[in-house]
Amino acid sequence: MSLITWTPEQFATNVVTHDNEHKHLFNLLNELHRNVGKNERSAIGASLDGLIAYVVEHFSSEEKNMAAAGYAALDQHKLEHAKLVQTCADLQAKFHAGAAEISEQTTAFLRDWLIEHIPKVDFKYAPTLSANGIH
Ligand SMILES: [Fe+2]
Ligand SMILES: [Fe+2]
Repeated sequence: MSLITWTPEQFATNVVTHDNEHKHLFNLLNELHRNVGKNERSAIGASLDGLIAYVVEHFSSEEKNMAAAGYAALDQHKLEHAKLVQTCADLQAKFHAGAAEISEQTTAFLRDWLIEHIPKVDFKYAPTLSANGIH
């Protein structure tokens, strides 16, 4: 069972670049969740690192396109991204120091963040990006 499934009804921004990035993010989160289920620490670490690196890459991609389109709420959106990146960096440091484990609570937190952020925050940039030829 996947932790999170991309459906157009729930998650399509209709900016294809970012929809594809979101699908890839979901795959990486599902992989992390599977490894948590198997309780394999080294696999958990590898998928955690991969997921966080991709989160950072995806956020920069959105921020670059929002800036290119002159999107008015860019700063607010960047702040939301920065908060999650900070949380992830803390988690990652603690995990690699052996001071914390990644649990199903952690993957549920990340799932819930995406379920909130994409429809409530990402959706808002779509008209401005589309109007500026960013697809
Ligand atoms: Fe996003
Ligand atoms: Fe975003």
